[in-house]
Amino acid sequence: MARKILVTGACSQLGRVVEVLLKLQEDTEVVALPQAELDILDAPAVLATVEEIKPAVIINCAGFNDVIAAEKRLATKLSINTRGGCNLAQAASQFKAYLCTFSSKFVFNGKKDQPYIEDDDFWPINQYGTSMHGGEEMISNLLDNYLIIRSDLLYGGGNDFVSQIQRALKVGDQFAVSDDFMIAPTYIGDLAAAMVALSSKWAAGVYHYTNDAGDDGISCYEFAQVVAELSDLDASLLKPTPINDMDFDTPLSMPHRAILSIEKFREMFPALVRPWREALTVYIEK
Ligand SMILES: NC(=O)c1ccc[n+]([C@@H]2O[C@H](COP(=O)([O-])OP(=O)(O)OC[C@H]3O[C@@H](n4cnc5c(N)ncnc54)[C@H](OP(=O)(O)O)[C@@H]3O)[C@@H](O)[C@H]2O)c1
Repeated sequence: MARKILVTGACSQLGRVVEVLLKLQEDTEVVALPQAELDILDAPAVLATVEEIKPAVIINCAGFNDVIAAEKRLATKLSINTRGGCNLAQAASQFKAYLCTFSSKFVFNGKKDQPYIEDDDFWPINQYGTSMHGGEEMISNLLDNYLIIRSDLLYGGGNDFVSQIQRALKVGDQFAVSDDFMIAPTYIGDLAAAMVALSSKWAAGVYHYTNDAGDDGISCYEFAQVVAELSDLDASLLKPTPINDMDFDTPLSMPHRAILSIEKFREMFPALVRPWREALTVYIEK
């Protein structure tokens, strides 16, 4: 019998790729629901949907990822990361499904001078990180059969950091970009493939997955320079700026150097780890 998989938040940049990848799997039936068809904040609707579909696996691709907006609009939007995860975990627990969801490096404070491993202590320093931490806590308290994949800045879905840089440089605008906020930028196609690999082995607990940017990561400025170079755009329009001087329109604490260790994942699936520059090149040149 085909393995039934329910994808929530199916219109997210990640959800669209996850759906395509899952549909290529043999013996798999995919039901992919955008927010308009399943609001994960609606607990009775989540329970009813899971009861009706009876998925073996639930993959949650919904989330609220705007770190700056998160600092201003707390309760409403951020509950997608906390209460949304909790609703799915309750349904997964009741109907014996395996729940896979995504989290972020923002659960850490960025003060460790080495990459963070999965078991390191949480220490979120802004509202977004706190909401991701809250979601993780609720899921791990309610379920044994869960997979949480923490990642870093995602691109590949259209309206992302790569396209913001390209849009600005194409029209000749200066683009301020942080030169001291370190990232391991990650192509959503690679993250989706990592999730499919882990979930097909019923991996449980927390895993980190990013494209490989070494132990120190790269700055957003370095990333933007390579985006410009690969897109034949004028990198001199990029304005390197300390993150504390960026105009976020709200006071915001950021984890300057939170890089996720991907060694636990690499041990299981070495072929699915690739350097960030290679992933970005393939994405831009495709
Ligand atoms: N983006 C990143 O850099 C990043 C980094 C680390 C982890 N993550 C995690 O990776 C996952 C996917 O991120 P993404 O960047 O692909 O997301 P995204 O493109 O920003 O999309 C978020 C999606 O969540 C949906 N959504 C919002 N509220 C919902 C609700 N109440 N019920 C159901 N769906 C709802 C939205 O629906 P509409 O389309 O209807 O608005 C949207 O499609 C998220 O869990 C995120 O937390 C992202």
